[in-house]
Amino acid sequence: MDTTSDINTPYYLYDLDLLRQTLDQARQAANQHNYHIHYAIKANHNPIITGIIRDYGFGVDCVSGNEVIEAIHRGFAAEKIVYAGVGKSDDEIRQTLESDIFCFNVESMEELQVIDEIASEMEKTARVALRVNPGVKAHTHKYITTGLDENKFGIHPLQLQESLDLCRRSKWLDFKGLHFHIGSQITSLQPFSRLCQRVNEIWEEFDISSMGATILNLGGGLGVNYEDPEGDPIPDFQSFFGVIAENLKIPDSIQVHFELGRSLVAQCGNLITRVLYTKKGVDKEFVITDAGMTELMRPSLYQARHKIENISSSGEICKYDVVGPVCESSDVFGKAVELPVTRRGHLLALKSCGAYAESMMLRYNMRTRAKSFFKTSGKISHITNAEMISSV
Ligand code: LLP
Repeated sequence: MDTTSDINTPYYLYDLDLLRQTLDQARQAANQHNYHIHYAIKANHNPIITGIIRDYGFGVDCVSGNEVIEAIHRGFAAEKIVYAGVGKSDDEIRQTLESDIFCFNVESMEELQVIDEIASEMEKTARVALRVNPGVKAHTHKYITTGLDENKFGIHPLQLQESLDLCRRSKWLDFKGLHFHIGSQITSLQPFSRLCQRVNEIWEEFDISSMGATILNLGGGLGVNYEDPEGDPIPDFQSFFGVIAENLKIPDSIQVHFELGRSLVAQCGNLITRVLYTKKGVDKEFVITDAGMTELMRPSLYQARHKIENISSSGEICKYDVVGPVCESSDVFGKAVELPVTRRGHLLALKSCGAYAESMMLRYNMRTRAKSFFKTSGKISHITNAEMISSV
């Protein structure tokens, strides 16, 4: 891998050629079915990345008032921005109503009532989609499954009628349709076909078409290959959208939206870190890196495994526990990781760090904020904030 060894580590290194290839494939596959993609900006809000995604014409899925403000500021079309989240504050609701985005994805009856009240105070119409919890198993890590009764997200079908009735009654609520999102890092297509079956049932049972719905939003969740990122760098968008098209039975006039995060950006990013020390334990040897859970939280939070490569050496293979410098025992990137003989000063690449790495960066232990660098046509550049959007 091309890196520049005199750059201060740790840093994120994004391959913009791979990002563009991924976006090309996603857009092409979605266009075949006339589907619309919103980028789940929580996956990575780096301005260079979002600038490229904006230029592909994608919308944005936001989960906080600040994400909505930033998305508008970065030039995404307001009519392609949606805003989900179980805990929208009154201020966030007010600010979103001012900014005239496409719609709120509403997650509870009480939230719907509050949006109605605030919209009425402001004398502004609130466009809403109701997020329904469909009770579909995503077969992924329990922290990133969202569509089951025990999860905090969405409105249970038992409470849906009440919410639809409020939409019908209210002068200030403009009902746009239904929203679903069953989880993240879903690597089999079966949960998505099951989701479509549930959507078909719910659509019919609650006669959603008669409510004047214009959209259905199926969320995100398509997984990536963390084990073999080089062999499988671009998710199979064709099959993903194909399964949806095959199983979804709602009127053709309804626009179908998706909120993809990880599948668009995960594989284009690496976290580059330097080995600070190696140390012998009793039955093991540690490699201590200058990146930690503060730059990549996924292993300590979800027991996720990112492929690790030693990019400075290709010697005999040994096993190491690769750990970060943060004062937490969970600050571990991998146990018994096979690497060529690794020494102080070597550079390691943690793969598949384009999603939920930089955007989840922490300042715990007063850590210095890691920078990001970008590779296009083999050349690496660092672009300062001021130059960011215009120069790519
Ligand atoms: N839509 C909604 C309403 C969501 O909550 C999410 C992700 C997405 C779309 C995008 O899902 P994706 O296509 O990226 O799977 N930090 C975790 C992932 C949390 C996902 C949260 N919601 C991780 O590192 O695995």
